[in-house]
Amino acid sequence: MVTYFKDGCVVITGAASGIGRETARVFARDGCIRLFLGDLSIDGLSETKNWILSEHPTANIEVAVVNIADEEAVEKFVQGAVTAFGHIDFAVNAAGFAHKAASVVDLSDGDWEKSYKVNLRGTFLCERALLRQMIRQKPLPGYECRASIVNITSLCATISIPGLTAYSASKGGVLGMSKTDALDYGPDKIRINCIAPGTIETPMSLNSLGADYLKANAKLTPLNRNGQPEDVANAVAWLSSPHAGFITGITLPVDGGLNLYTGPPV
Ligand SMILES: NC(=O)c1ccc[n+]([C@@H]2O[C@H](COP(=O)([O-])OP(=O)(O)OC[C@H]3O[C@@H](n4cnc5c(N)ncnc54)[C@H](O)[C@@H]3O)[C@@H](O)[C@H]2O)c1
Repeated sequence: MVTYFKDGCVVITGAASGIGRETARVFARDGCIRLFLGDLSIDGLSETKNWILSEHPTANIEVAVVNIADEEAVEKFVQGAVTAFGHIDFAVNAAGFAHKAASVVDLSDGDWEKSYKVNLRGTFLCERALLRQMIRQKPLPGYECRASIVNITSLCATISIPGLTAYSASKGGVLGMSKTDALDYGPDKIRINCIAPGTIETPMSLNSLGADYLKANAKLTPLNRNGQPEDVANAVAWLSSPHAGFITGITLPVDGGLNLYTGPPV
């Protein structure tokens, strides 16, 4: 059994659903029994908590409603984690919003604004609040680095999916921000990396792209299927762990090879 995260505390946003929820479960599976989970949905957070507790009854799980687009709420959320557990060793910024695919002439101001406010500004607010705390901490016993942050960007940050203009712009921003912050905080021994999921079967992809798109996409993917939340969660856990202790500033695609595909539809 892997126990990478023993004695550590993880903070995860977007933990009420999909990738964030599965990431919480995988951290608990790999030995992290202090989890501070945030999302807009208290019902979803409670489901995540009960699910993890059914597998790991000794886990200490706190859940908190947070809108990551709200600066005050984010500060309170991060402070809540510190009050609960005293330190934040790992953080995963998975909360995100995807608008329905539409060509740019039909893209609403609302979808543009929300993509920016949640995906880019929200991730920035979380990262800033986390770094202000992490920089004051000591590394966990046996760890070289003080802390790790993994931001969930998207394959859309580097290649294109039709109709996701605002989403792609916001996720490209997350990628640029993460690289700069990795450079700035490397000397402080805080690692910051991104995961770029391809198409992962979650409520978000179903709502944004639709079932037909997902079916066709699976065929285009070299590994011949769409991703599952666990595919991403396993990569997040590895990137957060000491096995990736000399890695910072990267963007790891978790996409079954989809970023390689340049041919016609099959
Ligand atoms: N599913 C995919 O194909 C895919 C691909 C690439 C990247 N991603 C990214 O992965 C992350 C997780 O997405 P998912 O597919 O698990 O979607 P999901 O819809 O299952 O989960 C997203 C969660 O984020 C929460 N959230 C949304 N806005 C929020 C806000 N303002 N404050 C706090 N929480 C908020 C939602 O309530 C939800 O629980 C997102 O950042 C998404 O952009 C997903």
